[in-house]
This record gives sequence, structure tokens and C-alpha cells, in this order.
Amino acid sequence: MTTPPTTIDPVDTLAARLSDAIRDAFGIDDADPLVGPARNPAFGDFQSNAAMPLGKRLGKNPREVAAAIVEHADLGDLAQPLTTDSIAGPGFINITLRPEALADRLAALDTPALGLPAPEHPETVVVDLCGVNLAKQMHVGHLRSNVIGDAIARVFERLGHTVVRQNHVGDWGLPIAMVTHKLMVESDAGRLDLENLDLATLNRLYREAQMECAADRKGLAAVRRFDLGPKAEAELEEQVSGAEEALADAKDTLVRLQKHDPEVEAVWRRIERTTMRVCLDVCARLNTRVTDDASAGESSYATELAGIVEDLEKRGVAEESDGALVVRVEGIKEPCLIRKRDGGFLYATTDLAAIRRRVQNMGGERLVYCVDARQGLHFRQVFGAAHKAGYTALPDGTTAVLEHAAFGTVLGEDNKPLKTRSGENIKLDDLLDEAVDRAEAAIRARESEHDDPRAIAEAIGIAAIKYADLQTERSKDYVFSFDRMVSFEGNTGPYLLYARARLNRIFDKAREKGIDTEAASAAPIRIEANEEKALALLLLRTPQVYRGVADSLEPHRLCAHLYDLAVAFSRFYDRCPVLGADDDATRASRLRLCAITRRILTDGLDTLGLPLLDRM
Ligand code: ARG
Repeated sequence: MTTPPTTIDPVDTLAARLSDAIRDAFGIDDADPLVGPARNPAFGDFQSNAAMPLGKRLGKNPREVAAAIVEHADLGDLAQPLTTDSIAGPGFINITLRPEALADRLAALDTPALGLPAPEHPETVVVDLCGVNLAKQMHVGHLRSNVIGDAIARVFERLGHTVVRQNHVGDWGLPIAMVTHKLMVESDAGRLDLENLDLATLNRLYREAQMECAADRKGLAAVRRFDLGPKAEAELEEQVSGAEEALADAKDTLVRLQKHDPEVEAVWRRIERTTMRVCLDVCARLNTRVTDDASAGESSYATELAGIVEDLEKRGVAEESDGALVVRVEGIKEPCLIRKRDGGFLYATTDLAAIRRRVQNMGGERLVYCVDARQGLHFRQVFGAAHKAGYTALPDGTTAVLEHAAFGTVLGEDNKPLKTRSGENIKLDDLLDEAVDRAEAAIRARESEHDDPRAIAEAIGIAAIKYADLQTERSKDYVFSFDRMVSFEGNTGPYLLYARARLNRIFDKAREKGIDTEAASAAPIRIEANEEKALALLLLRTPQVYRGVADSLEPHRLCAHLYDLAVAFSRFYDRCPVLGADDDATRASRLRLCAITRRILTDGLDTLGLPLLDRM
């Protein structure tokens, strides 16, 4: 989905007009007009550096090339007309915007759609996010999947597309059967109260069940090879046979689960409810729109897998390899494994079924997977296999686009994946609690008065964690630092919340002074000071930033934009008195600039999924 350039951003218009001029002058339509901010503001707002590379390409003097561009360029009422005086140095073209053009465009931005009218052809986008696993604590990887996935989903919604969120819960297969069986044994022995199961207990039993099923066959082989004596051998033999028994029990439990045996299913349901309650609570606390409806567990595909595999085998899409069934994907060495030698299905088999459902039942035209980068090979295999199988074909003859919005690892201060001191996954709730505690300490240190500091701290803490996660380039690892993220200075969530609250205060003050802020919202805009111009240019870039996020699936671009905007606003506010402006017209114009900034900031922060605070 490539989106057409917006017409509201003057830089885009300049680039388009200069491209036209280059085409008219030289018949070249692939030259980059190279429009950027003026290196010396005394000569204009922007400059085009296109003449230098073009001169080289055409074997002409760049100043002559510049003259030809200038002659053919029609910048309309956007900028002062270009003349030979606009050419400087070796062939730079200086461009000065007309302030009225900026004002007109700001007025056009200042509509309910904020420069993003509904698309002519809304697309259906399915976003895979969250992806928790039953009986396990959510970890920071799930935090990223949630926070980034939800922000991506919100951007598509904001652009007017139809979004379906899918929480692909790991709720099926042998590991789940192991813990289900373990729970049944523990409960039968009176050691476990199933009525009051909590996730910590569940997670412990999950690990125990895994250990019990892990036969130390290598250990036994080594004992035999090195003849380490009958005692060691007997010990390990017992462990291995015990593990084999536990594994056999788990397999039996899986079969019963697949057959909907009521006794087994009841225990599985408890596991599911216990895990999902915590998961959905965390999502609600994080302000991510992941609900029960959006959760489709792997179990929901269980009955489709045999049919899919059979179909792929019959059509020759899949082939046998070493007793297993695989789909070979062009360009990838490792084939996609869809049935094991023992007949079992895999993670990939379920994902194939999910793609088929998402495209064919949900009408997904674009499928986005917000999942850890370490699953990159898996998705390349599955995407390739799905295309080969024809599961991505849409009724109109086009093919759904599948993308892995891969994210990097969250690291601790030691640069290793973030864990607790004892090496375990950090409970997400604990992580959020700590951010909130630190936010509370930070606001108490600022000694500002609040009715309910804990509620404010909650929003700030959540915003801090979410923003820190969103603000780094998605595919990169980042070091988790509470100190940095809860700071009110720099590119942080709290800083942006504060910037918005400060804008609110300006309007409170205006009303206190009896200024008609409603009238200001329609006042003529006058762009005079450099700070006003810089702010206006950033505001006008906003629609393009949203489109860029949708194209690249990179929410950090919106973060950077909002931060730049907050900084530009701060400079404007320092240099250009608003309520204390010299005359009413200036004050009204500046108030309107404040109002537009506030709307864009509010819209942007909301689109990122940050909790907002009107007063701070
Ligand atoms: N449950 C998986 C995990 O924790 C993530 C699921 C991602 N989504 C998918 N369609 N495979 O690693």
C-alpha cells in the first residue's frame, strides 16, 4: 500500500513542482529535486540541490541547469517566484515560502480530519499482537508486541482503514497438555485447589511438568559410554523411564483434550481463564485494545490442521522429507515443517491455518505480525508457504501482503535480555508497578499539587514505559532504563504528556482572563516569527508522518515527530508571547497556533495509545 503524497505539506508540493520543472526542462522524470531546509536562513526557507547531480548527469554547468529549472518552475502561490537571483553558489536554488501560503495550509489542516480524510478504498488490516502463552507469565517481549502492535493498529484506524486485532494465544500442543496433566495429578492428590488457581502457581507447575518430561537421555548415554558405574546408571535409568512415563501421560492428555474429554477440558479451561485474566488486565492497564474478542488461540485452529496438511500434500505443495512433511519455499534453505514424523503438527502449521482464516474469512488485505525478530525465519517460511498454497489470494485476484513487523530485544543494563536477578522473566505487572512508583516519586519531587497523585503517577508511569518502547527504532534492541523513561526532560512519554498539559493551561489562563478562545479558533493565522514558521512547517508535515508509519510499520517516526513538535512549540512559546501579545490579532493568531498544536499532539499521543492527562 503506497499512499499518495499529501498536498498539505509544502515540502511535498515544492518537491513535486520542482520535479515537474526538471521534467519540462530536460525530459528527465526520475531526478530527485533534493529539497531540504535552507542552509542559510537569510537566503530562504528551503533550497533545492538538484542542479549539481543533474549537471553531472547531463554534462552541463550546474548553474545553467539551475537556471533552466528556475525558468520552468511554477511554485504558484506557495513561494515567492523563482528568478535567476534565487540561484546561489554552484547552483543551489533558494526558496522562500509565502507566509500566507503557510497560513492557508494550516487552516486546511485545522479540520476534524486533521489533514487525513477517509481513504477512498479502506483496506482491511489484520494485526497480530500480544501472543501470550497459557500457563506462563507474560514477559517484556509480550509488552513490545502489545504496545507496538496496538500503536500500528491505531495508526491504520486513524487513517480510516478497517483493523482486526488478533491475539494468537499459545494455548495448544504438548507443553499445554503436560501442565494440564500435572494440574490433574496435583489436584487429585489434594495438593492444589483448582478453584483458586493463580498464574504464579500455574507457571511453577508448568516448569515442573516440563522438567518431569525432560528425559536425560544424553546423560544416560554418557554414563554408559564412560562406564560411570551401576549406581549412576540406575539413577538415570529411573529418571529417563519416569520422564518417558510423564511424556506418555501428557500425550494421552493431549489426545483427550483433542477429543473434548470433559474432565481434561475443564482443567484446560481453568488454565486458560487464569492466564487470560492476567493478560487482559495487563492489556487494559497498558491501554492497548486487546480484548477477549480479539484473542484467537492456537486451539481454535486445531481441527483445521489435518485438512490443511492433507490438502497441501494432495496438491503437491508439500512434500515428504525424512518421514516429515515440509513445504519448500523459494529462496529459503530451511523448508517449512508442517507435520512431524510422529504425525504431530507444529507452530507453523497453525500459522498457515491462521493466515488462511485471516485472508479468506476476515478479508485481510494486509497481515501484520508484530512479533519478536528472533522469529524471522519462521515468518519467512510461513509467509512463503502460505503464498505457495494460495491462501493469500483475495477474491479480486490480488494477493494479501504479509509482513513481519519484527522488534528487537529489551535488554537490561548489563546488555543481556532483561530478566530478574535470579534469571527469570520479569512479571509485567511488577515492571509497570515500578514505573508507576518511580513516576510518583518524580512528581512528588516536583512538588506540584495533585488531588490524586497515584492516578497521575499511573498514567505517567504507563506512558513512560510505552513511549520508551515505541520511541526506539522497532527492529533494534534497546536497554531498559527506568531513570531515562520517567524523566520529564528529553524524548520521553512524561515530557510529551507535560507538553500537552501545558497547552491546556494556556487555554485555562486565557479563559480566566476572559479571552474568547472560541473566536480564536477561527482567527486568521499570521506566520511572522521564525519560531512560528518552524512550528507551522512541522504541523503541516503531520499527515505525511502518519502515512509513513503505516507504510513502514514504524511508530517511532510518529514519536520523533511529536517530540520535534513539542520542542518547536516550546521555542515558539518562549519567543512569541501568546496571551501577552501586542495586539488582539496577533494574540488570536497565536492562540490558534496553540490550538492546532494541541489537537495534533492529542491526536498523535492518542494514536500511539498513551494515556493522556489534561492537567499535570
Ligand atoms: N505465542 C508466541 C510466542 O510467545 C507468539 C505468537 C505470535 N503470533 C503468531 N501468529 N505466531 O512466541
